[in-house]
Amino acid sequence: MPRIPPTTRKGLLALHLVTSLGWLGADLVLLTLGIAVQRGADPAVVYPVMALVGTVLFAPLSVLVWLVGVASALLTPWGLWRYRWVLAKLVLTTVMVGLVLFLLTPNLRHAGAVGAALPTRDRADLVIAPAVSTSLMIIATVLSTYKPWGRRPVARPARESTPVTTPH
Ligand code: HEM
Repeated sequence: MPRIPPTTRKGLLALHLVTSLGWLGADLVLLTLGIAVQRGADPAVVYPVMALVGTVLFAPLSVLVWLVGVASALLTPWGLWRYRWVLAKLVLTTVMVGLVLFLLTPNLRHAGAVGAALPTRDRADLVIAPAVSTSLMIIATVLSTYKPWGRRPVARPARESTPVTTPH
């Protein structure tokens, strides 16, 4: 496992927090705008804004979150596969990035293009999707803070006695 100096690790953690919690913030903006249309705001105005936020901020940020998250795991003693909370976040974030890139972003682009002509069912989707992803990101944040479930079992030679310490 590559070792990085403590100051570099702090910088990486700061980058991880800014990108991942910024991602959560951008998602809350999408949720707010989606709800605003349900409450009577003009879709011809709001949906192009949602398309802009989704395309230039949310989608690129989701890729950056994944990359910085994976780097934060691989370059620290946490590792990517060693701890269940890290693995759970990896799976969760990977699924979310896929949904954002291949489902939500095309839907937002379409909504931005058609505006008020978007059918009611598709309008509801633009509230449900950010609501679900916001919830998943809150789960990821809670997992990161509590770091539950401990370490995954590793096959070790019987006589090896490496101490298991908290990787801080
Ligand atoms: C590919 C996905 C992700 C991976 C592999 C990952 C991995 C990690 C690792 C290894 C740390 C510890 C870093 C260190 O101690 O230097 C960490 C911290 C953290 N992560 Fe992630 N992360 C991912 C996605 C996310 C997401 C989506 C969020 C929230 C929206 C998030 C929120 C946090 C927070 C708040 C911390 C700080 C915890 C603390 O310092 O106690 N992460 N993450």
